[in-house]
Amino acid sequence: MKLGVNIDHVATVREARRGKEPNPLEALILAEEAGCDSIVAHLREDRRHINDGDIVSIRNTVRTKFNMEMSIAPEIVEIAQTIKPDEITLVPEKREEITTEGGLDVIGYKGELSKIIPEFKNKNIEVSLFIDPDLDQIKASKNVGAGFIEIHTGSYAHAFEQGDYGEQLQLIKESVSFALSIGLGVNAGHGLDYKNVIEIVKIPGIETLNIGHSIIAKSIFTGISRAVKEMLEIIR
Ligand code: PXP
Repeated sequence: MKLGVNIDHVATVREARRGKEPNPLEALILAEEAGCDSIVAHLREDRRHINDGDIVSIRNTVRTKFNMEMSIAPEIVEIAQTIKPDEITLVPEKREEITTEGGLDVIGYKGELSKIIPEFKNKNIEVSLFIDPDLDQIKASKNVGAGFIEIHTGSYAHAFEQGDYGEQLQLIKESVSFALSIGLGVNAGHGLDYKNVIEIVKIPGIETLNIGHSIIAKSIFTGISRAVKEMLEIIR
């Protein structure tokens, strides 16, 4: 299993003062030196953390793989097609949310997705859809032409905190094996931390775990390198 490090929250701290520090690019370089497999950043429509300049610098600096998280808003799609990340992960976005709250409704946005996905594929950009562990959404992801899905682990993470996560874990396991059986690549992420990730790591077939908040939170005390290395030790 691989690790994608989401560096959004380095920019969140920078934006607390609308200044220059901490610089997400420094985090990117240290995370790659520590051995992560890809860098993830979300250019939100409200630009609350990562901004347009960051996306350009990230593209120019990444040596591993750049996975750009984004909504399907036309303005953001245009930026992504210009910047050309290695991969995009399409997520739903609501302005008032604290973070991405649920998976993308692939069934509801079938028309838009069927148009956008081939545009990215023609530019050699891999497309992943961030969805809940739901078999109908997985089937729809295949039908609109995505190569990958990212299973939303937020409900599992919440259940883990409550101490009763068996049902959510089972849903993820079934979703992974169904997605693999119809030829989709599978990533997973959201709300994963150094404890709840252990059960997810045991699921065969997940290619990459995309993790942000828990790594950046730990890095305040240990530094990014150690925070990334500790997560890599668990994952590998
Ligand atoms: N994957 C997706 C699609 C996300 O939207 C996020 C949050 O930006 C993450 C992974 C990482 O979540 P967390 O910051 O909770 O680790």
